[in-house]
Amino acid sequence: MGWLQRAKSKYQTDRAAGRPTLILGIETSCDETSAAVIRGGREILSNIVSSQVEIHQKFGGVVPEVASRRHVENVAIVVQEALDKAGVGLDDLSAVAVTYGPGLVGALLVGVTAAKSIAYARSLPLVGVHHIAGHIYANFLGGGMEPPLVALVVSGGHTELIYMPQHGRFEFLGRTRDDAAGEAYDKVARAMGLPYPGGPAIDRLAHVGDPEKIVFPRAWLEEGSLDFSFSGLKSAVMNALHNAKQRGERLDPADVAAAFQASVVDVLTEKTVLAVRRTGVTNVVVAGGVAANRGLRDKLQERAGQEGFSVLFPPLSLCTDNAAMIAAAAHPFYEKGWFHNLDLNAYASLPLTQWEAGPFVDLAK
Ligand code: KG4
Ligand code: ZN
Repeated sequence: MGWLQRAKSKYQTDRAAGRPTLILGIETSCDETSAAVIRGGREILSNIVSSQVEIHQKFGGVVPEVASRRHVENVAIVVQEALDKAGVGLDDLSAVAVTYGPGLVGALLVGVTAAKSIAYARSLPLVGVHHIAGHIYANFLGGGMEPPLVALVVSGGHTELIYMPQHGRFEFLGRTRDDAAGEAYDKVARAMGLPYPGGPAIDRLAHVGDPEKIVFPRAWLEEGSLDFSFSGLKSAVMNALHNAKQRGERLDPADVAAAFQASVVDVLTEKTVLAVRRTGVTNVVVAGGVAANRGLRDKLQERAGQEGFSVLFPPLSLCTDNAAMIAAAAHPFYEKGWFHNLDLNAYASLPLTQWEAGPFVDLAK
């Protein structure tokens, strides 16, 4: 019997027996090697994250080739740790979920290959997961909100407003036309001589600075647009730093950080408010590394209170890349019986709409 038949029979037997769903998630899209075990799509039994940040700090950013090599060294160890911590063996699992895009293709391939090997060896169904869907699903771990909702996705590679009418369905409302919010944080931090990743460092400084000493532009774009642009802001900060240096002056880094953060947070918050008004939803979730930002959390909570919608941020540990969110995003597909075949590949760029459309094999029938 081929793998597909074995996986199908395993799926149908597990469903018929009403066994609790245990999904192993694997995430290697950037610089964290992570594996997690999730029960029932919501409950984290383990979530191991091995960060390479110290290695990449030396280079001021992620070096793709270095990242891939570290994933190769780490992935089997991290998966074993996730299983041990959850107290389960490979044969207890219901399915394997893995990030297959978007991200660094060499890094993604390590996770995809590991997941396919486990799926093949243990006759487990396989679900390829979109990285951004994973970030959104970090909000559903431990309960929380249900669709319909608007998701503000703000990471190192993405800045998007997404309407999610139901589980596993995504419609784009707006996206960045140039830099992602996290990327702007990282580039500005670098220009200010702060360590990589720049987001946390700027966030800390911003809280002791005066956001009104310097005023940076806010890119609202055309009236009613839900798109973003951060490259003009990034240039404005760099120019201000450069001009001050030319004049032999020194701008207080805390004031620069506060003014930069105020500009980013204002635009992210007001566009989210606009997206809520336009779609008529009452729930907003925030996702991605920048969801850890304290300035954004405070401002969006304040505006949500005024506008009468609820906003949910993942716990800080689930804002950055982790495998628990990947396993959680796979759960609705498990429920439907929709899986990927062993020809699953890794993609540097992968639209969310392409992910939700498949190709899937239906193991429920
Ligand atoms: O989602 P993530 O871990 O990786 C990607 O998929 O991109 O996001 C990483 C990004 C980095 O750009 C980092 O600077 C930013 O999230 N970040 C923050 C904060 N913590 C992380 N940005 C602003 N404020 C923070 N507190
Ligand atoms: Zn991410």
